Amino acid sequence: MKFTIESIMKQSTKFLRVYGFERPRHESVLIIKNNLKKSYEDIVTSKDVKISLQARNKILENLFQRLKGKPLSKIYGLKEFYSRQFITSEETLDPRPETELIVDVVKDLLKGYKKNKINILDVGTGSACIIITITLELISRINIKATGLDISRKALQIARKNLIKFNLNKRINLIKSNWFESLDNKFDFVISNPPYIKINDLNNLGKEVQFDPLISLEAGLTGLRSYFEIAKGVHKHIKKDGFIILEIGKGQLKEVDKIFSNQGFRRILKEKDLQGIDRVVVYQYKRTKT
Ligand SMILES: C[S@@+](CC[C@H](N)C(=O)[O-])C[C@H]1O[C@@H](n2cnc3c(N)ncnc32)[C@H](O)[C@@H]1O
Repeated sequence: MKFTIESIMKQSTKFLRVYGFERPRHESVLIIKNNLKKSYEDIVTSKDVKISLQARNKILENLFQRLKGKPLSKIYGLKEFYSRQFITSEETLDPRPETELIVDVVKDLLKGYKKNKINILDVGTGSACIIITITLELISRINIKATGLDISRKALQIARKNLIKFNLNKRINLIKSNWFESLDNKFDFVISNPPYIKINDLNNLGKEVQFDPLISLEAGLTGLRSYFEIAKGVHKHIKKDGFIILEIGKGQLKEVDKIFSNQGFRRILKEKDLQGIDRVVVYQYKRTKT
């Protein structure tokens, strides 16, 4: 039997529709395109092109992974963030669109920045998508030196691949560290999208989130554990008048404010995401001596 792009597309679209996927045809095209290493346009315009049995089997294998809820980013190891493609894996959180807000906030804060040199620390860097994006967005006018830290060695391996991909190996340093344990320098900006999900909420998240590593999501019974750890340790690593920029979960603003104000930080900004949820907060550390 001969297989064409059209026949496999029909088959996979039907499966995806039966399983309740919102955009079955679109997802079919993505699966086929990734396997045949062709563009989206090539797939939709080359319906009669024949494909080998081997390619068809691989497409079906990926289709069945997708039907079980595995995100395409986890199947193909790539995810878009701020219009760039980042390498991801089972060991990294898939970059989320709402996290792009951290990049926007940092860009805004740095609009009137007087110094031409800045040190930035990314706590829980994962794929390094945030720190790489900030660096690439600002590199033309600011001399950025950055550090990404993470407790997960495997996540750091993916971060390293992304540094190489974006040619930032010399500008961004990676450190394996449990919060600030293995760190001894100070930074102008500290950014973090830490784990912030309550243990009891883990099973209520969407199917796709179940494919993210637990260590990137879970933050104790209250979902606030990471913020306590960061607030407790960050003052030793932040310069006078330095900023800390954090992503927070839905409904966590009041508690996170309390945690940081107890450690001598003052909130200077909060930003909502596209759903109207308070998502990014900025604190400044005020102290008398450096
Ligand atoms: C929500 S993910 C964020 C990943 C990435 N920054 C992003 O926004 O896509 C949180 C990250 O924190 C890391 N992490 C969890 N516990 C940590 C700890 N004790 N010390 C350092 N990093 C930790 C996880 O491995 C994970 O990469």
